[in-house]
Amino acid sequence: MYSEKVMKHFRNPKHMGTPKQYDVVGKVGNPVCGDVMHIYLKIRDEKITDIDFKTMGCAAAIATSSITCEIASGKTLDEALKITKKDVVDALDGLPENKIHCSNLAVDALHKAVKEYRK
Ligand code: FES
Repeated sequence: MYSEKVMKHFRNPKHMGTPKQYDVVGKVGNPVCGDVMHIYLKIRDEKITDIDFKTMGCAAAIATSSITCEIASGKTLDEALKITKKDVVDALDGLPENKIHCSNLAVDALHKAVKEYRK
C-alpha cells in the first residue's frame, strides 16, 4: 500500500519532536480524521535554520511531516511558501489515493507557520 520511502519516513522520521526554542509554530488539524500537526520553525535572515514537527496522525501524516521538514530545511521563507502538496507526495514516491489528503497537513502547517511569522 505505501511506498518504501513512506515506510522509511514513518519508521524513522526526521525532525520529529518539540524543540525547546523556536520562533513560530504552525498548527493545523484535519477535520476529516481529527489528526493534528505542529511545525516549529527557527528563522534567521528569512531562512529556515531549524524545523521540527509533532504529529498525532496516521503513517502517511508522519511520513509527510518528516519529508516536508527535509524539503523545507535551509530554504528561504519564499521558497518554503512555494512547496506544494504535489512536491511532498512526489518526494515520497506517491501516496495511496485515499491518503492524499494527509499530505495537506504538513504543507498547510508549514505555510501557516511562515505566514504567522511574517505577521
Ligand atoms: Fe488523518 Fe492521515 S488519516 S492525516
